[in-house]
Amino acid sequence: MPTEAGLGPSYWMHGTPSPGRPALTDDLTADVVVIGGGIAGLCTAHELVRAGREVVLLEAGRIASGVSGHTTGKLTSLHGLIYARLRDTLGATAAARYARAQQEALEHVVGLCAEIGIDAELERAPAYIYVTDEGRAGEIRAEAAAALDAGLDAAYVTETELPFPVAAAVRLDGQLLFHPRKFLLGLAEDLVARGGTIHEETRVTDLQEHTDCRLTTEGGATVHAQDVVMATNFPLTVHTSLLARLTVRRELVVAAPVATTAAPQGMYLTPEDSTRSVRTAPYDEDHRLLIVTGEAFVPGTDHPGERLERLTGWARGTFPGFGDTPPSYRWAAQDVRSADHLPYVGHEHPDTQHVFVATGFGGWGMSNGVMAGRLLAAHVTGAPRPDWTELFDPRRHLPLREYPDVTRAQLSVARHYLVGRPPRCTHMGCELGFDDLEGTWECPCHGSRFAADGSVLQGPATRPLEREHLPESGP
Ligand code: FES
Repeated sequence: MPTEAGLGPSYWMHGTPSPGRPALTDDLTADVVVIGGGIAGLCTAHELVRAGREVVLLEAGRIASGVSGHTTGKLTSLHGLIYARLRDTLGATAAARYARAQQEALEHVVGLCAEIGIDAELERAPAYIYVTDEGRAGEIRAEAAAALDAGLDAAYVTETELPFPVAAAVRLDGQLLFHPRKFLLGLAEDLVARGGTIHEETRVTDLQEHTDCRLTTEGGATVHAQDVVMATNFPLTVHTSLLARLTVRRELVVAAPVATTAAPQGMYLTPEDSTRSVRTAPYDEDHRLLIVTGEAFVPGTDHPGERLERLTGWARGTFPGFGDTPPSYRWAAQDVRSADHLPYVGHEHPDTQHVFVATGFGGWGMSNGVMAGRLLAAHVTGAPRPDWTELFDPRRHLPLREYPDVTRAQLSVARHYLVGRPPRCTHMGCELGFDDLEGTWECPCHGSRFAADGSVLQGPATRPLEREHLPESGP
């Protein structure tokens, strides 16, 4: 149930039980091992099973319960101000390819749901990126033009159904709202029915690539595979060429039923106020669940309690009736950003043939996760790859204009190595911060999360905190 104080499981986690899958206890061999049971991992595994590969998916916790179980569940091609940025940095062709990759992912979800028979509460809805500050209307106008050039049927508008005036917005019709966990659990069931294997509570602690790939699990099992896909949000064995280009961010989410008549039908995002994102989901005959996300921050470095208050206050002040009657839900979501705002999907580094990665979705993990599944399956099987393959290649060069951002991010990371006191992260030694809203130790460097007793909640760390390094009197 939702917690009265602090944060709890997402709305998606309620009423969607999943059958437990056994932990891996014995050594085994497979064509492909996929690490991570979120949207990118499940989509990759599903595509590969359909292509006839013997696939084993290893999930450290439970599938569809991590980042993908705590998303806002928007499937859209409108990703902030990405099209103007891409057109200006990589050109119009790159922007068009990005748009096509996203649109194809959306329609792929529709096709899968129809084919497999998954009721993922799919709803077509318009997506908006808006600003209320007149001074930023030019950015919106530029984004609308770039999105249109990229092949999307985007429009510049100044009216929306939001209960406050906006200065400007980009509108894109025909996007999708869905229940991410229902979709992923349906996909997992189909994956197993087609011969794929899922092991939960199986944390991979080591990965070596020689003539084949060799993985070791926390429980001591060894797995050999021809190919390995790391779809773990932040990669488990991130290569140094990627390490400096990834940063983590955490956002808060509040949700409560509102009268259907007061519920916006579209999905909204603004970069203002540390971001605000709004969508609704089916709830009951008279209500829809209003889901508001925002207050982005670096984990372990902030006061999420104050941020939660701000976000809840904004939702209450903006949408009449929000939170007046229980239940209400509060949760947090974490994502990984790349330096050039494009995901990394493909070979993990220049020297690998068989280790692939999917990361850096920058808050747009639903469409990009589906895109990654299709692309990685093509990499592994050798099937023809789409013309947007290189756009997402992790081995790509970083544009010069992104270097200052990377340097700033790395200086910030370095501060966490240098300053400080125990406890330190078991991944690479960064100083952890305690999040009293969630009761967890959080790493600002690469996003590992630990329970108050030191056990690992989220990687890339694979080892628990040393008990003697935890403060004796508690955090
Ligand atoms: Fe890398 Fe903590 S997650 S140092």
